[in-house]
Amino acid sequence: MQQEFWLERWELNQIGFHNPQTNRHLKQNWSLLNQPTGSVIFVPFCGKSKDMLWLRDQGYQVIGVELSPLAVEAFFVENGLSVKTIQQDKFKVFETDNLRIYCGDFFDLTANDLFTVNAVYDRASLVALPPDMRLDYTMKIRQLLRTETQILLVAFEYLQHEMQGPPFSVHETEVSALYGNWCDIKLLYSEDIYDQEPHFRERGLSRIQEEIYRLSVR
Ligand SMILES: C[S@@+](CC[C@H](N)C(=O)[O-])C[C@H]1O[C@@H](n2cnc3c(N)ncnc32)[C@H](O)[C@@H]1O
Repeated sequence: MQQEFWLERWELNQIGFHNPQTNRHLKQNWSLLNQPTGSVIFVPFCGKSKDMLWLRDQGYQVIGVELSPLAVEAFFVENGLSVKTIQQDKFKVFETDNLRIYCGDFFDLTANDLFTVNAVYDRASLVALPPDMRLDYTMKIRQLLRTETQILLVAFEYLQHEMQGPPFSVHETEVSALYGNWCDIKLLYSEDIYDQEPHFRERGLSRIQEEIYRLSVR
């Protein structure tokens, strides 16, 4: 998606993807990544996700990246967090205890920015991107991460012709194509969410599954 698309979503407050609660798949599946306290968790395309606070509450250090300054500022204000900011290369970096958000373009991050990362939480990041950007996204993630990094990926699967993304449908075969030659892939959980999420029915879908993967970088 073009950057303008996302900046405009935040300006117009069209942020239906934002969940005011912690994501239940994160809570249910995170322990399967076996991350010890003190690990560094990267949250790409983080928005103002509460999931970052849940991860921090588990004793992790959290690093997010988010394009929209409105989203990043809202995250700190709405959660009553004190914040320091510094300019680092192309990013304005917002920092509080054990939590740092790079405000800028994910594609401008370098391995140096993320060399401490042990695990990644990808909710509504890969699936936020149209097909032609997903390979670039995963290649960039690959460049940024070290061997043995674990990724928890939350994806949707539905009939793409029934609805325009985002979120886009990313089938298991595409997950294999994008990650299979550099990660071990395990589908942890798959759930039919059609009845729980009526807005997808209103957008024209006849079915939708949510799928949770653990990817382990080889
Ligand atoms: C679908 S939202 C998901 C937000 C968050 N992960 C959540 O679960 O609420 C996608 C987010 O990615 C951000 N984004 C899009 N392109 C980006 C880029 N190139 N670099 C950094 N953030 C980006 C958007 O501004 C938006 O907040």
